[in-house]
Amino acid sequence: MYTPVDMKVFVILPAAGIGTRMAASQPKQFLTLGGLPILIHSLRAFAAVPRVTALFVAVRDVEIARVQAQIAEFLPGHTHPPIHVVQGGDSRQESVANALAALPAAPEDLVLVHDAVRPLIDAATIERTLDAVVEHGAAIVGLPAIDTVKQVERTAHGALIQATIPREYVVLAQTPQGFRCELLRRAFAEAAADGFLGTDEASLVERAGHPVAVVPGSAANLKITQPGDLALAEFYLSQRAGE
Ligand code: C5P
Repeated sequence: MYTPVDMKVFVILPAAGIGTRMAASQPKQFLTLGGLPILIHSLRAFAAVPRVTALFVAVRDVEIARVQAQIAEFLPGHTHPPIHVVQGGDSRQESVANALAALPAAPEDLVLVHDAVRPLIDAATIERTLDAVVEHGAAIVGLPAIDTVKQVERTAHGALIQATIPREYVVLAQTPQGFRCELLRRAFAEAAADGFLGTDEASLVERAGHPVAVVPGSAANLKITQPGDLALAEFYLSQRAGE
């Protein structure tokens, strides 16, 4: 498929997390994977997709200069698509909202949001997501569940199972998550008005009443979150290098 020529594609990379679950000395988006900061891997993946018009990275204000220096160091001479660094917020949603406010996007343009800490996203998955957004207006990458999924009620000592959710009804939401700009802006405005805080963009668009399509993800598109994830990502990276 293709993106109609007058339709621009903006990519937002929220990268303002502190990464408390990682127990590392610095936020996980700055840890090194295969000799490069994780954020740089994510930026490179999207910068290599010809349909992308511009990238917007949301980082904490104290890290803006550091990220600009890393972009200059690891993407020397890079001019297109332009990479803009904007200030993030206290939650992922706020970081994305700040970037969304900075986009010079028309209502019909497309916006992809991708966790900066998913460095192994591949061009084919980005392209498939864009195709699905052109077709449906909203689409995310989702990984079919492999384990049996239980709904639980939390207790003081752990959890008690309430129900078993058939696996065919479940996907694990990954990123990128893509939307027509006017839809995403409306969903963010409604969430802000209602005080709703979601952990991904799709949840905001779902509550705005718009259907969201799912394209298949992969285990390699993991979110670097806890100790051990980095070693796994290094493994996937070495497999890719050997292909
Ligand atoms: O750990 P979490 O799932 O919240 O992180 C997902 C992405 O959101 C990460 O790339 C992280 O840097 C980003 N984030 C952000 N602003 C926050 C919290 C998380 O941009 N305040």
